[in-house]
Amino acid sequence: MCGIVGYIGGSNAVNAVVEGLHRLEYRGYDSAGITFLEDRELKTIKDKGRVAHLVDMIPPEIFSEVAIGHTRWATHGKPSHENAHPHHDCGGTISVVHNGIIENYILLKELLIKEGHKFVSETDTEVIAHLIEKYYEGSIVLEQAVKMAIDSLEGTYGLVVLSSKEPDKIIAARRASPIILGVGDKENFVASDATAIVKYTKKIIYLEDGELAVLTRNDIRIFNQRNIKVDKKISSITWDEKHTSKDGYPHFMLKEIHEQPGSFHNTLAGHIDAEEGTAHLGGMDNLFPGNSIHRIRRIVILGCGTSWHAGLLGEYYLERLTGIPTEVEYASEFRYRTPSIDEDTFVIALSQSGETADTMAAIKEAKNRGAKVFGIVNVIGSSVSREVNQGLYIHVGPEIGVASTKAFLSQAAALFLIALYIGRKKIVSYKEGMEYIAELEKLEDKLRAVLAGTEKKVKELAEKYASYPSFLYLGRGLNFPIALEGALKLKEISYIHAEGYPAGEMKHGPIALIDKNFPAFFVAPGDEIFEKSLSNIQEIKARDGKIIILTDEGSVIPEKLADDIIRIPATIEVFYPFLEIIPLQLFAYYIAVKKDRDVDKPRNLAKSVTVE
Ligand code: M6R
Repeated sequence: MCGIVGYIGGSNAVNAVVEGLHRLEYRGYDSAGITFLEDRELKTIKDKGRVAHLVDMIPPEIFSEVAIGHTRWATHGKPSHENAHPHHDCGGTISVVHNGIIENYILLKELLIKEGHKFVSETDTEVIAHLIEKYYEGSIVLEQAVKMAIDSLEGTYGLVVLSSKEPDKIIAARRASPIILGVGDKENFVASDATAIVKYTKKIIYLEDGELAVLTRNDIRIFNQRNIKVDKKISSITWDEKHTSKDGYPHFMLKEIHEQPGSFHNTLAGHIDAEEGTAHLGGMDNLFPGNSIHRIRRIVILGCGTSWHAGLLGEYYLERLTGIPTEVEYASEFRYRTPSIDEDTFVIALSQSGETADTMAAIKEAKNRGAKVFGIVNVIGSSVSREVNQGLYIHVGPEIGVASTKAFLSQAAALFLIALYIGRKKIVSYKEGMEYIAELEKLEDKLRAVLAGTEKKVKELAEKYASYPSFLYLGRGLNFPIALEGALKLKEISYIHAEGYPAGEMKHGPIALIDKNFPAFFVAPGDEIFEKSLSNIQEIKARDGKIIILTDEGSVIPEKLADDIIRIPATIEVFYPFLEIIPLQLFAYYIAVKKDRDVDKPRNLAKSVTVE
């Protein structure tokens, strides 16, 4: 979604901001723009289209010591030159970039128009520039005018403001849309996402809701909602530039698929208790001191998209290992029902980015109702990680491809750890716990074996099947969430229609779709329902459907039943999903490549969905 970057210091701010905008491209956007200082006046260049197009419009000789930039993902008004950020006041002396949604912008715009302000865009953001203009008079300095303006706003914002009257400062403010500040040596940075500035500094400050920051080249001052100056901790980013490069792969998505053995290892690191056959989870110890874990009556898992699919695996794990009733909810729907949540409900929120607005809103709702909320998050210091009561980082490093891959596997692993942690205090025996741990420790090698053993075959199958217009992905039990996730991967990056369905439900409707042009991708390892899965496959075969089966190396598939078979190493039933997902990610990836899609930045999608 929208991205923000700003720089103030002694180097060329235009270069730093353009570099930052390139690094924010992965978030998904449709327009880009920059404001810098030229002959003591603000100069803005912006348009719909890619950052590369913006760069073509910037004169190469430009040098400015301050600049702000933006990548826009349209909400209010279509992608166009006028709607692209930065936006300005009437006098062109104030420039604003903004992420989030101003809910009362229509009312504010009407009032400002009555007062004589002239608007040129359809966006909600433009009201912020005019509001600042309204208050920015006499002895009022920029930060005061920005504060007065944001006090009138309803909705969400991460915003950055520059004025030609005080070009020695940048103002930043946040309410429910992330803003981080980068601390440099005689230079400072602001961004919506650390990826934009990691090349320049690893020292960052997270702005909290209600805070406003004044950045100059030499210092950063931060004020809370009551205008009191606050001291903030400087955090260090632990990942480096290598994590944000393709490292020789043609796409980030392929790189991230291949990173999975290592990222899975990082998720488990420090959390395995091989003596007691359980998981070490400091966050769970803090959340449930003493025997209080036995008070949990219900577990609710919240997430969106791929995180929701990981949540479905968590539902199986938690019910199987703890016996506690568990449900998975779409975070986007949760607030609009009357969820039965109380202080004996344990809520787990899943988010790779930690910035998903729907998930944030659902967490707040659950907390309001008295639940304890545990977060499973990738991005350190993100909004979700700071909102939840306790949590666990999955430590997979930056995930740049819009299609989530390595985060899904690690979210599932983290949910298994939580299930094992609670389960060992309830119904899982020491022996059973030790068996799980023993197999978990073998999985990193098995993940490597899946990559080495399936990629070539999957690539060939992608060539063979790329022209089909629709796919069904089918699985039973733990394989059903994998079918859903396989279908989501295919549709989001190849734009082919794909549906995930529980294999046993086929005969209740979707089987009507089956003919020789409608391939069905079965996820059917040798688990306790393998025979039932085979019966469902026969049902498709009898109707001339094309069949691809993903199974393990030992399972016997009747002759001529499948058109194609992909085999993965054997494991115990609960861990098959970890191995199964890789061939499905690769299948979607290679089909998208064959169809010449923009794999890492699929159309209409954003990596971090910060609007509800
Ligand atoms: O960052 P989050 O995990 O909260 O994101 C949730 C979804 O937006 C995300 O998983 C989305 O579905 C991905 N594009 C899937 O590949």
